[in-house]
Amino acid sequence: MKIVFGFLATIILIVSLAPFSYASDPSPLQDFCVALNASAVPVFVNGKFCKNPNMVVADDFYFSGLNKPGNTSNAVGSNVTAVNVDNLPGLNTLGISAVRIDYKPNGLNPPHTHPRATEILVVLEGTLFVGFVTSNPGNKLFTKYLNPGDVFVFPEGLIHFQLNVGKTNAIAFAGLSSQNPGVITIAKAVFGSEPTIDPNVLAMAFQVEMNMIDSLLQAQSD
Ligand SMILES: *[C@@H]1O[C@H](CO)[C@@H](O)[C@H](O)[C@H]1NC(C)=O
Ligand SMILES: *[C@@H]1O[C@H](CO)[C@@H](O)[C@H](O)[C@H]1NC(C)=O
Ligand SMILES: *[C@@H]1O[C@H](CO)[C@@H](O)[C@H](O)[C@H]1NC(C)=O
Repeated sequence: MKIVFGFLATIILIVSLAPFSYASDPSPLQDFCVALNASAVPVFVNGKFCKNPNMVVADDFYFSGLNKPGNTSNAVGSNVTAVNVDNLPGLNTLGISAVRIDYKPNGLNPPHTHPRATEILVVLEGTLFVGFVTSNPGNKLFTKYLNPGDVFVFPEGLIHFQLNVGKTNAIAFAGLSSQNPGVITIAKAVFGSEPTIDPNVLAMAFQVEMNMIDSLLQAQSD
């Protein structure tokens, strides 16, 4: 009887805690909480302090410049311009942000994840080959060719990429379900960490010879 009661109590506890597990940023508790630029305050919290609402102005909710292409003259041929709580303080607590992504022909936004956000991507110009991979077990790949006006969604936390397969530059915009989605670029995080992960660890993880790991480490250190 005691065991059954304990089991029931555990179930009730789990069910009652369920509403407190959020899929993305929590909902705001007020109309807005414009982030105070208090970079000098030595307190780290999940989020930012609110500016006095009486001091809030329209410009706190405003960002200008997404009409300008990012510079794609880099190793991967793509550039992400992000509009998040760091450059649009009115986004604080609102659980949303945006990016513009530019790609030159053959440009790649390399495999990466956003630890805190789902991403919905809209192609404005060009043709993109995009995809994401599900988590273990399975690691199923979903891909699609996208043209202007096409929309694709990358579920929260999953590894995804976009490759410009057209002959012209490509442009995409995306919304992300976090004020601060974060980004983990797989190649850079695994082979370009500071300091580097022990090559023996990487060789065993990737099941390749050490010289392969050396060249991957070298590629990400440039
Ligand atoms: C916040 O303050 C830092 C350092 O004082 C400054 O570099 C940055 O541009 C400021 N950000 C905004 C959005 O005003
Ligand atoms: C992206 O473009 C901006 C604006 O041209 C530039 O400042 C930045 O260095 C570029 N980033 C990369 C990774 O090439
Ligand atoms: C783009 O970046 C490259 C490499 O950093 C640089 O040489 C070039 O001047 C930049 N172009 C513009 C328009 O800023």
